[in-house]
Amino acid sequence: MAAVLIWISLLVGLLAGLGHTEAQQTTLHPLVGRVFVHTLDRENFLHLPELVVSVPATVPITYHAHLQGHPDLPRWLRCAQRSPHQPGFLYGTATPADRGRQVIEVTAYNRDSFDTTRQRLVLLIGDPEGPLLPYQAEFLVRSHDVEEVLPSTPAGRFLTALGGLWEPGELQLLNITSALDRGGRVPLPIEGRKEGVYIKVGSSSPFSTCLKMVASPDSQARCAQGQPPLLSCYDTLAPHFRVDWCNVLLVDKSVPEPADEVPTPGDGILEHDPFFCPPTEATAREFLTDALVTLLVPLLVALLLTLLLAYVMCCRREGRLKRDLATSDIQMVHHCTIRGNTEELRQMAASREVPRPLSTLPMFNVRTGERLPPQVDSARVPLILDQH
Ligand SMILES: *[C@@H]1O[C@H](CO)[C@@H](O)[C@H](O)[C@H]1NC(C)=O
Repeated sequence: MAAVLIWISLLVGLLAGLGHTEAQQTTLHPLVGRVFVHTLDRENFLHLPELVVSVPATVPITYHAHLQGHPDLPRWLRCAQRSPHQPGFLYGTATPADRGRQVIEVTAYNRDSFDTTRQRLVLLIGDPEGPLLPYQAEFLVRSHDVEEVLPSTPAGRFLTALGGLWEPGELQLLNITSALDRGGRVPLPIEGRKEGVYIKVGSSSPFSTCLKMVASPDSQARCAQGQPPLLSCYDTLAPHFRVDWCNVLLVDKSVPEPADEVPTPGDGILEHDPFFCPPTEATAREFLTDALVTLLVPLLVALLLTLLLAYVMCCRREGRLKRDLATSDIQMVHHCTIRGNTEELRQMAASREVPRPLSTLPMFNVRTGERLPPQVDSARVPLILDQH
């Protein structure tokens, strides 16, 4: 009975817990082709009705975001947070393929208490209204990290400052990317060094001559030689934004690009070309002599060498006769006697019933044919070796 009660209370507790973790939901409206920034800050996550105790502002919090039902974010969206004490940002530029509804789940982790809070962001991605922005320019701002331009204040300040360089018109942020995502390097930890950020801005009014000059081939050539580019106007972005004027990219989409020509398949036969000059006729050639020379010359050489070797081996050998003539007579006699004696000793050893090593021969009395017993001291036995 007690066990059942405990189980029921546990289940009720679990269900209550599940009810608590039900994520709160926010709807956002990103636009295709315009930069979208959503700030993930502690106010959004920690001032919720179920959190009775308010969390102090010094608590470190990290955010993780993913597309609902998927492990990661959609391709166009990035999540950035410099440190657990700073807010996080979801940012990116939706492409026409992303139109529609996307649900992003964001989890906030309290790094002190390990509490988690989940929030669901419903993104309804639609087309932007208003005039087209065919004139687009991209700037590399070296003095900022990406998180520093994502909040609306610095972004607005950048647009205002850029308005001093461009024809008056509606300037809009199109894309913001960290330079690290475009092949940039993490800077050395020296004061004032930043990762850099690419900011793409669009406008309906044409580029100013100043911007055109900065992006002109002359300027690029100067940049390639390490010189500053031609900046004919006052840099209104300085000193707050340090723009790399060698890295300005202008895109003019006001002129519609010619539609790609559809290639028409032909019949596969080249048309008659009066300037086509076929190579001259190849004459028939005789290769027999070449082949014969190639084969016969090495064969002849091999044959000659064989004959030479045969002559040397058979006719020019210095034989036994010459060796014997060169050896003195006394040496020959010595050689013959030594050989004869050895032969005789061998025969004597072989004529015994039990073959014995040659060293036991002195223990044999040649005259009597008597064999000495092995324990007899051989020094007292006279050895008579009869050779005749
Ligand atoms: C924004 O910039 C990034 C990096 O350059 C690029 O990959 C992405 O396609 C751009 N987005 C759009 C919609 O152009």
